Amino acid sequence: MNRSVDLLVLGSGIAGCSAALRAADLGASVMLVAKDDLGATNTSWAQGGIIGLAPPEEGDSSNLLASDIEGAGAGLCRTEAVRLLAEEGPRLCRTFLWERLAVPFDLGTNGTPAPTAEAAHSARRIYHAKDATGLAIQTALSEAVRKHPNIRVRERLCLVDLITSPHHCVDPVRVYDPIQVHGAFLFDPDTGEVEGALAKRTMLATGGLGYLYLHTTNPPSATGDGLAAAYRASARIVNCEYVQFHPTALYVPGKPRTLLTEALRGEGAQLVNRKGERFMTRFAPDQMELAPRDVVSRAIFQEMAASGEACVYLDLSPLAARLDLDQHFPTVLAACRAEGLDPHRQAIPVVPAAHYFCGGVLVDLDGRTSLPGLFAAGEVACTGVHGANRLASTSLLEGLVWGFRGAEAAVRELRATALPEPGLLAQWRKPEEPEPTDPLLIDQDWGLIRSTLWNYAGIVRTGARLVRAKADLHYLAHRIERFYHEASLSRELLELRSGILCARLILNAALQNPESRGCHYRVD
Ligand code: SIN
Repeated sequence: MNRSVDLLVLGSGIAGCSAALRAADLGASVMLVAKDDLGATNTSWAQGGIIGLAPPEEGDSSNLLASDIEGAGAGLCRTEAVRLLAEEGPRLCRTFLWERLAVPFDLGTNGTPAPTAEAAHSARRIYHAKDATGLAIQTALSEAVRKHPNIRVRERLCLVDLITSPHHCVDPVRVYDPIQVHGAFLFDPDTGEVEGALAKRTMLATGGLGYLYLHTTNPPSATGDGLAAAYRASARIVNCEYVQFHPTALYVPGKPRTLLTEALRGEGAQLVNRKGERFMTRFAPDQMELAPRDVVSRAIFQEMAASGEACVYLDLSPLAARLDLDQHFPTVLAACRAEGLDPHRQAIPVVPAAHYFCGGVLVDLDGRTSLPGLFAAGEVACTGVHGANRLASTSLLEGLVWGFRGAEAAVRELRATALPEPGLLAQWRKPEEPEPTDPLLIDQDWGLIRSTLWNYAGIVRTGARLVRAKADLHYLAHRIERFYHEASLSRELLELRSGILCARLILNAALQNPESRGCHYRVD
């Protein structure tokens, strides 16, 4: 076991880095663990932006923001969490990201961030750095984290499991003790070894699980590792049926989907079918392309089903008439041009893709989970802000707010925390004669998980399909768990073990909930 730190942060996106910086500023010793390089996170893939509130003269307010979040959330938001986000988020965005970290948001003529519009927002309140906002934020956060004397950064380590007592205690009589999280077991793919990282408090900020779906805007590292570890440690997990699909991912057959930011529609891009008709008139005549994501994604899905086409199209010409596309949306333009598509001359083929997990490890307003010693923030957590469907550009903000609040609460608890007695916790035990892992088997299993969730637990669901999916993955889960116990560990095997568990959590939740709401839509 390693020497203990005050706070172990697992994950280095906006939630993890914000938590680490806040705790370190408050004097705590922090170890920040990244699965890849520090800056290679889902945060850095976020294009659109982060909510910063429009100027008061434009009539924006935290009440209006809260009502937009609740409107998108389809009646399932936790009111106090929404209020907290709407009140604290824009302030932190300004004071922490812009003023302290100098994130290069696009500025207006008065030298302050110039917000843009996004779907389902009633005001222009999205701070952005062209269309690479997440990357700009991540770069600033990573730099600050690396410079902080109280933070030790560990890169390219994979989460194996949380360390809990009594589960990992050597003394069987400890079974009567209450559960407590003491850190995590981490696998180093370079050495093949597992180390125990002990901590007085542990924060999960491991991100989402978009890679469980065949088509996703997420990086391949989004395999639900933190959610799975929390579930195995018996934390409360909620709302797993609410997986959000982003309406507009670039469609190129045989290629991974690339996000085409919501801000395009916010600024006037129109959805059309092959005949050039604006089909949103039939699905959301009042809001059209600015309807919440679940509505737009379903409309696209239904339009594709009715026409038999493989995609619909995003027409950027209304924007091109007003804006310099290359100047405002360089990431989008580069992605299109890389595929030989020119948004100045043609509408761009798009399809929905899995984008964001609205459920997660249940946390309170201070990021505490149901397990003492464990906090969670960001996509892995369920704060209640998103309800059944997330409003655009709330995810980075939620990671920031709960990263901060979780760190503050964890530091407050440190004074009352005793370290586990030496020798109380068991060391990691390897199998005596591990089987080699076969990459072909792992690829095959991933293919089955990803196509099963896409086809049977996707944008439109039925009970019969969910039952079928559950049965198909049941046997696979059993095989993977057996393999995990007998094989030599690898990052690929750990991710697969997380993926199959999270897939089953989604399927069970979707099957148990017969009510269509937000992004869980059952046609039966
Ligand atoms: C986007 O740019 O459309 C993604 C922003 C988000 O998911 O909030």
